[in-house]
Amino acid sequence: MCEWRSDVVTGLDSRDADIRDGKRVQMLVQEQSPDWIVLAAAYTDVDGCERNPEMAFAVNRDGAVNVASAARMTGARLLFLSSDYVFDGTKTVPYETGDARNPRSVYGRSKAEAEIKLRELLPNCCIVRTSWLFGLGGKCFPDTILKLAASRPTLDVVNDQRGCPTYTVDLARTIVQLCQKNTEGIVHATNGGDCTWFEFAEEIVRGAGLGTAVRPVSSEKMARPASRPAYSVLSHSSLQALGITMPPWRDALRRYLEERRS
Ligand SMILES: NC(=O)c1ccc[n+]([C@@H]2O[C@H](COP(=O)([O-])OP(=O)(O)OC[C@H]3O[C@@H](n4cnc5c(N)ncnc54)[C@H](OP(=O)(O)O)[C@@H]3O)[C@@H](O)[C@H]2O)c1
Repeated sequence: MCEWRSDVVTGLDSRDADIRDGKRVQMLVQEQSPDWIVLAAAYTDVDGCERNPEMAFAVNRDGAVNVASAARMTGARLLFLSSDYVFDGTKTVPYETGDARNPRSVYGRSKAEAEIKLRELLPNCCIVRTSWLFGLGGKCFPDTILKLAASRPTLDVVNDQRGCPTYTVDLARTIVQLCQKNTEGIVHATNGGDCTWFEFAEEIVRGAGLGTAVRPVSSEKMARPASRPAYSVLSHSSLQALGITMPPWRDALRRYLEERRS
């Protein structure tokens, strides 16, 4: 286990700075003078991005460029969180870091364009692509499933999108290690294994000891504004090359359910 003991970690949120405001971002970064900036802020509502592309690009691409410019000016290193949705989902084996980006949604395009701009502006930045995040402290898939399962006898969940659930606790530990290793370039960081949303939901309901029936359905049946990749499993080879391993997603889910109960 890796803990960030000796360094000072400062959490900033949207009340401290809107990343669309380049001057404010620059001022804050100069004031804090960090060694590393971990940029997790984003407009993450994938369907919302489809309806409001201006906002998606303003926050996810141009906001990220503002943070990268401030990092460049102050000599800070930047770790940018990106997404499996930069891929089109046509592969049937895990995506490697060098595979071509071909996003299918506005959200995915805004992240893909940010990646390209950041690498131009700050060649030593670290881009961490992750997927299907869950954890305490915000809306996430397991939380939604548990709330729905408490009030419904059956749940329909899509079974034709495959990816890898990732526990924010495990991702945070990996981020610390990546910073400590002075990592540059693109890294894929997810929990181990893969599943469909249906399989994930089944495991959540079972893990919580609920009797709700989960039924597999197609994405077509649950039509949403943004198209999602059918397969977005990210390869672990980039993490393995750095000597970092993340636990399997089932183990991560068990720890999340425990944390949620306590
Ligand atoms: N969730 C996933 O499954 C997933 C998968 C792959 C990659 N990622 C990436 O991982 C990162 C974290 O995702 P998440 O799901 O934890 O995100 P989240 O829960 O939606 O949180 C996003 C954060 O960004 C802040 N934010 C939004 N617009 C902002 C702006 N203009 N200026 C400053 N802050 C702003 C939000 O603040 P307010 O709440 O105050 O608006 C919020 O604190 C994102 O970069 C996302 O693209 C997520």
